[in-house]
Amino acid sequence: MFDHLQAVPPDPILGLIAAYAEDNNPKKIDLGIGVYKDEHGNTPMLNCVVAAEKILLQTQTTKTYLGPPGVVGFNTAMTSLLFGADSEAVRNGRVITVQTPGGTGALRVAGDLINTATPGAGVWASDPTWGNHLALFPAAGLKMHSYPYFDVQNSSLRFNDMLEVLKQRGPGDVVLLHACCHNPSGVSPSPEQWEIISDLAAERCFTPLIDIAYMGFERGIEEDTLAIRLFTEKCAEVLVASSCSKNFAMYRERVGAVSVVSKNAEQSKVVASVINNVTRKNYSMPPAHGPAVIDIILHSDELNQQWVSEVAGMRNRVNGLRQTLVEKIKAKGIKRDFSFIQRQTGMFSFLGISPEQVLRLRNEFSIYTVSSSRVNIASYNQDNLDYFIDAFATVLDE
Ligand code: LMR
Repeated sequence: MFDHLQAVPPDPILGLIAAYAEDNNPKKIDLGIGVYKDEHGNTPMLNCVVAAEKILLQTQTTKTYLGPPGVVGFNTAMTSLLFGADSEAVRNGRVITVQTPGGTGALRVAGDLINTATPGAGVWASDPTWGNHLALFPAAGLKMHSYPYFDVQNSSLRFNDMLEVLKQRGPGDVVLLHACCHNPSGVSPSPEQWEIISDLAAERCFTPLIDIAYMGFERGIEEDTLAIRLFTEKCAEVLVASSCSKNFAMYRERVGAVSVVSKNAEQSKVVASVINNVTRKNYSMPPAHGPAVIDIILHSDELNQQWVSEVAGMRNRVNGLRQTLVEKIKAKGIKRDFSFIQRQTGMFSFLGISPEQVLRLRNEFSIYTVSSSRVNIASYNQDNLDYFIDAFATVLDE
């Protein structure tokens, strides 16, 4: 059966983890995968998560199956967080949220739902987008297309070019958007630009699918849901794939959710039944631990407050590192202008160097990043920044 199988090369992001682990250079730096790190290079658990896990351990009484929708308290809390408790769509029963194994699980369930509704539908994603988007939607039977997004010359948004392509989209087309902290470019539309994109979605009736994996890392937890709120106000149907990996630092627990806005409550019930059927055929029922912990946090004023401030701490540290990186590059005498790094948000920016230069960083300095030169800003710290800047100046040859 397996004679004709061809080995598949490792995913470019996940493959770096193994290569980095095998490197014995004590100065090695992993700028690859999008994982928050503290000043010591660790990815600690949040205090609110540790506290909620203790409560869960003391109060849980069973490990029986959850049922297809998962932890219901988590689903309702995520709905409020993403759409706002007073949202018209929420009040009128037009929004359903179902927990999924991570944000990737949410995207795949959304893909399966779309393919059930409109087999082979087209999904338009930003150029560039997260690499796994390009793999997982075709795996669900959908066709990938792209719209212009990142201006390589100016490290900014190609807003007009993006609109030109989106203006051609219509009913049955899906447009994938990153709500905040665009992965991989770090460039997001401004609030005014989100207004224009959401007006266009309402006018052209394409279906927005919003991926929100870094909520809280751009401007703030609620602020980062702006795109979701605008599309939900203006469009009859919206899909949202959310992840709790980064903002609750619960990566390995695989917590995410798929939310769907439908035109009325009746249709919402149909959508929920299709989602339950799609997940049953895939992983049957979702895991409990992560969502149960988040359910406790989001239903406790004290833990919720602690969470908001821990997210602010992570956001501020990354923004501070953006500033320090730009200052140190300037101080090193590097002529090229890297000030764009400071204007971008979230964990990622492109350094704007060639795949050959990325390889030199890796081979000569044990500095690991993806060939596109996307770096995880959270990986820098006071101990490794100078080493990085020296190496960077060498490969830039300035
Ligand atoms: C990333 O882009 O590095 C993260 O979203 C992690 C992943 O699964 O690729």
